[in-house]
Amino acid sequence: MSTNSSGVRLRSVTKRFRSGTIGIDNASLTIEGGEFVTFLGPSGSGKTTTLNTIAGFVRPTSGSIEIGGRDVTKVPPSKRNLGIVFQNYALFPHMSVRDNVAFGLHGRGLSKHEVSKRINDVLTMVRLGGLEDRRPKQLSGGQQQRVALARALVYQPPVLLMDEPLSALDKALRDQMQVEIGRIHREVGTTFLFVTHDQNEALGLSDRIVLFNEGRILQVGTPSELYEQPRSLFAAQFLGESNVFRGRVTSAQTLEFAGVPLRFNGGAPATKSAAIVVRPENLLVRQADEARPDENQVSALITNISYFGSFRSIMVSYLDGSSGQLRESASSEARFSRGDNVSVCWDPGRAVLVDDGEAAA
Ligand SMILES: Nc1ncnc2c1ncn2[C@@H]1O[C@H](COP(=O)(O)OP(=O)(O)OP(=O)(O)O)[C@@H](O)[C@H]1O
Ligand SMILES: [Mg+2]
Repeated sequence: MSTNSSGVRLRSVTKRFRSGTIGIDNASLTIEGGEFVTFLGPSGSGKTTTLNTIAGFVRPTSGSIEIGGRDVTKVPPSKRNLGIVFQNYALFPHMSVRDNVAFGLHGRGLSKHEVSKRINDVLTMVRLGGLEDRRPKQLSGGQQQRVALARALVYQPPVLLMDEPLSALDKALRDQMQVEIGRIHREVGTTFLFVTHDQNEALGLSDRIVLFNEGRILQVGTPSELYEQPRSLFAAQFLGESNVFRGRVTSAQTLEFAGVPLRFNGGAPATKSAAIVVRPENLLVRQADEARPDENQVSALITNISYFGSFRSIMVSYLDGSSGQLRESASSEARFSRGDNVSVCWDPGRAVLVDDGEAAA
């Protein structure tokens, strides 16, 4: 299936609702044509509001929106030429799969032959070939979601907007549809904007993730940039698991955590109060007296150990009362048990320093 793709640009977009609530606060963002971009963030953080300003359902209080280089800020939704898939995909219950999909092509001046070719192509793409004559209620949830996708893709929109399209599906179907959506994106090359509050969906699908909190865009980057270089405590805690060592910066390379100096790489932060964040897989657990001069180490108490087949998850409690977790390959020998006092160690190059801002809930 051939399609063209368009970039999307938001310039300082703010939406203040009549109630006074700020839905989005001064959001600026450039999405390249053909990218798969995910809006990720907790409930109420402004993901849907931002998507709706791009769709045209919400008019920004200030700022502008461009699609394919054209300023569409005042253009109605129907003239923006976007494909849209919502959470409740609202298929027409009395129409067949074929007619549901054909609906998107009405009034586009296509020949009968072209209409039927496009429907066949798109149904093959979403793997619904053979089910054309069924009604929605004769389909599974995942199949219905595919019809909604086909209906949005059939007129080859340059941008496809999806707001939590998988949230009504059970976990197994969601995982399967996630793979399908990734494949469809590669096949059509359309720009995909996908909203979710599921971090695994965001990590698995996206070229880039836009992280929202409280109406603001906090960070934009590839999944690995967000995971490996979170720029705030919120980002570190929202995406993936973290061990957080809060303390005072005492020199250009040292933070004091519960009386223990910890080294960090990179420049000194702007604030005195900061936190070192370490992912579970970058921590090692050692006997309390197994010191290594090149590592940071803090004392910890093992509060629990869970076995997950390929790895063990070790829960610990640190000196300041905070809890953390680390992960050990289950193929290594289990040397510790619950209640042990141990040293938790890491290479300073495998941690990041962030401002001690507000933590994720
Ligand atoms: N029509 C509206 N009128 C008033 N306030 C609104 C309206 N729509 C959204 N809001 C508010 O704007 C903020 C952002 O809401 P939005 O729907 O964009 O969040 P979201 O990130 O999509 O959350 P969720 O994950 O729950 O869907 C919230 O505080 C919400 O209550
Ligand atoms: Mg929403």
